[in-house]
Amino acid sequence: MQNTFNAIVAEESEGKTLIGLKELGLSDLPDEPVLVAVKYSTLNYKDGLAISGRGRICRALPMICGIDLAGVVESSSDSRWQPGDEIVINGYGLSETFNGGYSQYQRVKADWPVRLPKGLTLKQSMAIGTAGYTAMLCVQALEDHGLKPADGPVLVTGAAGGVGSVAVSLLSGLGYEVHASTGRMASQEQFLKSLGAAKLIAREALARKAKPLEKESWAGVVDTVGSNTLVAALAQTRHEGVVAACGLAGGMDLPGSVAPFILRGVTLRGIDSVMASQPRREAAWHRLAETLDLDHLEAISNTIAMTALLEMGHKIVDGEIRGRVVVDVNR
Ligand SMILES: NC(=O)c1ccc[n+]([C@@H]2O[C@H](COP(=O)([O-])OP(=O)(O)OC[C@H]3O[C@@H](n4cnc5c(N)ncnc54)[C@H](OP(=O)(O)O)[C@@H]3O)[C@@H](O)[C@H]2O)c1
Repeated sequence: MQNTFNAIVAEESEGKTLIGLKELGLSDLPDEPVLVAVKYSTLNYKDGLAISGRGRICRALPMICGIDLAGVVESSSDSRWQPGDEIVINGYGLSETFNGGYSQYQRVKADWPVRLPKGLTLKQSMAIGTAGYTAMLCVQALEDHGLKPADGPVLVTGAAGGVGSVAVSLLSGLGYEVHASTGRMASQEQFLKSLGAAKLIAREALARKAKPLEKESWAGVVDTVGSNTLVAALAQTRHEGVVAACGLAGGMDLPGSVAPFILRGVTLRGIDSVMASQPRREAAWHRLAETLDLDHLEAISNTIAMTALLEMGHKIVDGEIRGRVVVDVNR
């Protein structure tokens, strides 16, 4: 094991938050029972906000950024984990209140890891990452409501992004007719169709002030955008349909009416991946390993070195990244 290792750290300097690559030692890591040799992390929208300085994600400084990690247990004082175990961690406040995954080593609480599901490599687990695991939580929310492919088309908003592209792949693989809303029709049409989208919808068709009720179009919706887009999606959801809301890429507000709820019985399901219970996480990861098309996953994802990460923060917040970015923390 190396005495020193690299990490992306946010720290305070002269009243400003600076984010950069730093050399750390094990004594810089928190005093938690499970030491993980991290192999991969990912770039999610929230990571973009943190490393670009455009959102206040790190609540304490200094903080190692990165909301996801996948790696191998190096040592553990908790009997649930043994050296050599391959594990994945998403959320739980990593990069917010606890040190995160942009580091070659990390110490974590024994309650947090999910065992790498059979059929996935550590790298594939981070191609999925929080974005893909959230997409599965959304799909499971639609299914919990009773949604079936025969009920009608489902809408995915922000479809070319991380959550969106995995949601398109999962839903089409399960037999749903997927309509994909994107602001990048011209450049991403082939990509989204290759993931199984049956139809593309221009972002502007939804990102506008909607009427309280519009033409009933969707049996279910996965929304990653929020604001006017979520309001329009609700106004177009069919009687007793269901909308899983997980994102705010278009804004955090919800400027709409209660009409879809009280006149069409539409259900709005909130999705929180960060503090989801351990059984819910395990079920989502198990299902991802079982159902996600690994050729799609390969097409969705790109791998970058940790040293290249800092340039990418603004790009994901500006909606310029397609699919998923895996971060190789050892490069
Ligand atoms: N609830 C949770 O636990 C949870 C977990 C993960 C992510 N999230 C949230 O889900 C959202 C998506 O995350 P992600 O990692 O998939 O991010 P991402 O890769 O950046 O994808 C977001 C997509 O939204 C669309 N978009 C961007 N700006 C927009 C705007 N102003 N108006 C309308 N659409 C816009 C773009 O898709 P097109 O180019 O196709 O239009 C973009 O690719 C983020 O808000 C993130 O914070 C929440």
